[in-house]
Amino acid sequence: MRTAAIIPAAGRGERLGPGVPKALRELGGAPLLVHAVRAVDRARSVDLVVVAAPPDDPAAVERLLADYEWIGEVLVVAGGLDRQQSVARALVSLPEDVDVVLVHDAARPLAPPELVDAVAATIRRGAAACVPVVPLADTVKVVADDQVVRTLDRSSLRAVQTPQGFRRGVLAAAHAAFQQALAAGGLPEVPPVTDDAGMVERQGVPVVAVPGSEEAFKVTRPLDLLTAEALLTRRRAAGAR
Ligand code: CTP
Ligand code: MG
Repeated sequence: MRTAAIIPAAGRGERLGPGVPKALRELGGAPLLVHAVRAVDRARSVDLVVVAAPPDDPAAVERLLADYEWIGEVLVVAGGLDRQQSVARALVSLPEDVDVVLVHDAARPLAPPELVDAVAATIRRGAAACVPVVPLADTVKVVADDQVVRTLDRSSLRAVQTPQGFRRGVLAAAHAAFQQALAAGGLPEVPPVTDDAGMVERQGVPVVAVPGSEEAFKVTRPLDLLTAEALLTRRRAAGAR
């Protein structure tokens, strides 16, 4: 039984503003990607890491990661045009003996290794799929044409983070079905999927929710980078890295 962590890192990071791809943006002296790989590499449950790199120059990412020391094996593949494609490319490159797959955004550099282990443990105990969730801080409303349509019941809503965990076969089957649906119906027939569990849910597979971590937040906008800097500084002061 082996557990692999896939790190989709091929996005441009448009909401973060102009510059190099988001995964290569710097946080406390190292690219976001290095922090994210570290988060999963340090988790006891993870044996192997596969990074889906920006497709224009995956070799540069391979060289970058070779400059750091890792506990387990770290592989690099070329990512794709969207997140699903990036994950799909990493998925097909996994060795045969991998049976648990975690997918963790490069854009969540400070996810605690304990969270990674908690998600992996849920799959090893028999769940088909698992996502970390956190309660919402804001009230959420449906809005159309600048008019509020209705207010959702916040008590039942959760924001979903990564790492998300899957039995390998479950994730592979969901990707295959998604590709088929795309080929058959084209994009209008298939609403966009923004996470891996979303694809698995469409297959009718039950997904277990476990408590997420505030520190697993996604760096999306410039302010998130400031928050990440502050958290990293606090961790370093506490001697954590
Ligand atoms: N991702 C990927 N391949 C893509 C698009 C996204 O591997 N073609 C990855 C990103 O690198 C990121 C994760 O998916 O680690 C989550 O996506 P998001 O936060 O949306 O990152 P970006 O797509 O890079 O950012 P933006 O949407 O602002 O451009
Ligand atoms: Mg994106």
